[in-house]
Amino acid sequence: MSVQAYGAAGVPEIDSAPTQEVVWHHRHLLDVDALTWPEIELIMRTTDEMKGILARPIRKVPALNGRRVTTLFYEASTRTRVSFETAARNLSADVVSISTATSSVTKGESLVDTIRTLEALGAEILVMRHSVSGAPYLAAEVFGGHVLNGGDGWHAHPTQALLDLYTMRQHLPGGDLRGRKVAIVGDILHSRVARSNIWSLTAAGADLWLCGPATLLRGMDRWATAWGDGAIPGHGRFHVTSDVEVAVRDADVVMALRIQRERMQGGLLPSLREYAARFGLNAERVSLAKPEAIVMHPGPMNEGVEIAPDVAVSGRAVITEQVANGVAVRMALLYLLAGAHETGRPHDAHSGEAIR
Ligand code: MLT
Repeated sequence: MSVQAYGAAGVPEIDSAPTQEVVWHHRHLLDVDALTWPEIELIMRTTDEMKGILARPIRKVPALNGRRVTTLFYEASTRTRVSFETAARNLSADVVSISTATSSVTKGESLVDTIRTLEALGAEILVMRHSVSGAPYLAAEVFGGHVLNGGDGWHAHPTQALLDLYTMRQHLPGGDLRGRKVAIVGDILHSRVARSNIWSLTAAGADLWLCGPATLLRGMDRWATAWGDGAIPGHGRFHVTSDVEVAVRDADVVMALRIQRERMQGGLLPSLREYAARFGLNAERVSLAKPEAIVMHPGPMNEGVEIAPDVAVSGRAVITEQVANGVAVRMALLYLLAGAHETGRPHDAHSGEAIR
């Protein structure tokens, strides 16, 4: 059964019927661009199962009992690393957490040597964050197990994009993003979150608007123009604007992105105060969106810069839901990548049975 057909408007027609013959075959998850829409739907359904586990009094199942998950973070992280480690423990995996600040990396060990060492020590699933775009792709070439990208440079943050998609689907009628206006406002240039979201949200058929100062949108206009011309069959369009009111007006979803000062060379912004005044998501700007619109932020937030403190805690904000959904999405991905269904354990997406 096919679950995806392309309509006249070039937007995927998503069949909500069960897609039982979708078989997970990916050894690694490096970005969402490697996923078909049926595979994304499989992740969403597996996440539903994981949410069910997280609603139980005891949030732990033996699905990955004895499997070894190692987190290797070369960049700072709170929510992504803790979320992956919580997800792995909820599935009963053994978790090893490497902070590069206290590892042999400080003695000059190369990435390749570090990965070979971790494999020799028994790592089976490697969750990795690195400041260099493409580093997880190199890791996937040398590591014998599974690599999950926890964010590489400006390039990709696939689990953030998937948890964003999951959260949007929870709030939109029928979980359907087709034709829904999603505005992402902020430092698009340096954002791996934006780059991954472009893939998954246009695959979902959303009408995506990227907004920020021209200096923080560089290159995106060419991408948007090419895509608007149908370069990727079946994907929704995306647009680029520096007019925040145009981006936010009548939006179903408004997402603020952090101003990434650590990646910014001089001259891209006159000042944070001016950015906040011209682009910050404040109550007045958010009121231009649909009354039922949700407000998102991948975190960490610079309150008072890209998002006003009152907007961040308003009834429209789903920022803590994003964090909570991150655990369920990462449980789903660890479960699928580890190929737990191949070990004979029940796997709901394939057999209809519950994950234990
Ligand atoms: C990231 O790691 O890219 C975060 O989730 C977003 C940010 O740092 O602003």
